[in-house]
Amino acid sequence: MIFNTTFQKLSLNRAYLPFNVSKSQLKHAVQAARTLGFDGFNVTMPHKTRILELVDQLDDVAKKGGTVNTVARVGQRLVGYSTDGEGAFRAIKSYGFEPGDKNILVIGAGGAARAIVQRLSLRHNSIRILNRSLDRAKTVAEDLNGRGSVSCGKLTKKNLETSIPGTNLLVNATPLQTTKILAELAIQPQSLRDIDWVFDLAYDELSDPPHTRSGRISPLEMLLHQAALSFEIWLGKPAPLALMRASLVDHLGRDWK
Ligand SMILES: NC(=O)c1ccc[n+]([C@@H]2O[C@H](COP(=O)([O-])OP(=O)(O)OC[C@H]3O[C@@H](n4cnc5c(N)ncnc54)[C@H](OP(=O)(O)O)[C@@H]3O)[C@@H](O)[C@H]2O)c1
Repeated sequence: MIFNTTFQKLSLNRAYLPFNVSKSQLKHAVQAARTLGFDGFNVTMPHKTRILELVDQLDDVAKKGGTVNTVARVGQRLVGYSTDGEGAFRAIKSYGFEPGDKNILVIGAGGAARAIVQRLSLRHNSIRILNRSLDRAKTVAEDLNGRGSVSCGKLTKKNLETSIPGTNLLVNATPLQTTKILAELAIQPQSLRDIDWVFDLAYDELSDPPHTRSGRISPLEMLLHQAALSFEIWLGKPAPLALMRASLVDHLGRDWK
């Protein structure tokens, strides 16, 4: 909807279509995109890491982060990019939070978490990753140690409770809202009251955010910025950010900030 409305308003002869692709069909879907001559496509959960081996080339950010959410056709080659990390970074900064010398707690270690940890580790932050599968968290922490420190642990009640104090930003990169994760681990929502910001990435069922010092960074802000960066990759020109924002606000019937 963000893209189609924008294409129409700019009289660009393009269409953005959703395809529901199972894990076992990803290879065939990419081959179909080649055969049908798509100019590009986005890749979302759960394909952001599997897609790496199916494209012909990776840009530096995608290669280092080990995750791709945007593919562009350049001649006959498919090139993989990742706009999630920079999209999240721009969203975070738009709320006045300046990453750098901050304590950041990340829940999740999938494609989106990888992209965000990669981007935030370029600044001097202390990042702690907690994930349901410890192995995956370890791989992210090992791959993406940047200027600050990246540590990891298993997502358990005890680990989450001990990681919360001193956290400036909690990034929840799972499909569940933070309130749900807390409830599942039997942790009181009030335990987040000393955190500055909570940033849930999932935007499909937004519940009331937990009470924190400064509030919630909306996943819709990230959605907008990562989409704008994809637009720039495909179209090769600056994205009409205000127009894209207005398309989303009109569609939702409300602003999120
Ligand atoms: N706002 C935006 O613009 C934006 C951009 C990108 C992604 N997202 C959203 O971010 C979420 C993650 O996307 P992704 O591409 O990173 O997905 P992914 O690669 O499939 O990773 C999902 C992560 O969530 C964890 N997880 C899944 N179910 C869980 C549960 N019931 N309890 C605890 N942890 C659970 C997984 O843990 P395991 O490793 O143990 O499986 C994994 O770490 C999705 O909801 C996606 O829509 C939003």
